[in-house]
Amino acid sequence: MKRIKAVYPGSFDPPTNGHLDLIERGSKIFDELVVAILRNPEKDPLFSVTDRRQMLESMTAGFDNVSVDTFHGLTVDYALRMEARAILRGIRAISDYEYELQMALMNRKLQPGLETVFMMPAEKYSYLSSRLVREVAQLGGNIDCLVPELVAQKLREKMDVANRFDNSDGNDQREMAPAERVTTERQAARNIKPRKRKS
Ligand code: PNS
Repeated sequence: MKRIKAVYPGSFDPPTNGHLDLIERGSKIFDELVVAILRNPEKDPLFSVTDRRQMLESMTAGFDNVSVDTFHGLTVDYALRMEARAILRGIRAISDYEYELQMALMNRKLQPGLETVFMMPAEKYSYLSSRLVREVAQLGGNIDCLVPELVAQKLREKMDVANRFDNSDGNDQREMAPAERVTTERQAARNIKPRKRKS
């Protein structure tokens, strides 16, 4: 019997409980599932590809048929190299649909033999995104229920580094380099005028 392999591509910056939920669901319907982190030189991620890979490997250690890999270039080319028959993507809400449909149809145009399979994460994760997790963490909110403990720990470490540089009086750009982006975002966040609360 032919084994069905699927690729689950994404940025995973950072991986969330929503991603994990989808991986678990995918692992139940595919014989093999490869979680594939896009190496995108044009993006400026919070976590390095190495960090993201480590986090995902640890998160998926309990699944026998799930592996983690990285790729660059077109997802369809990567999926073909991996001999995958499907691309797995999550749809959380109707707002995801338009972008995902566009991507799925483009991928089909590029590689008609490859199917995109959409799965929905548990409802409790329907509001969850890596971008919001980054924002909440950067602004000091609690992210404990949003990401696995290891990811929460890594986020806290990043924020601690950013805070250390943030709180130092010196403004040495060289010293700031490792956390520069985070610090810059924090500064940008501070410059946002607080919205008036609706009563
Ligand atoms: O987690 P994300 O950022 O929503 O994932 C988007 C991703 C990586 C799946 C998408 O950007 C992608 O497939 N990039 C690889 C380049 C590619 O194939 N582009 C054409 C897509 S139609």
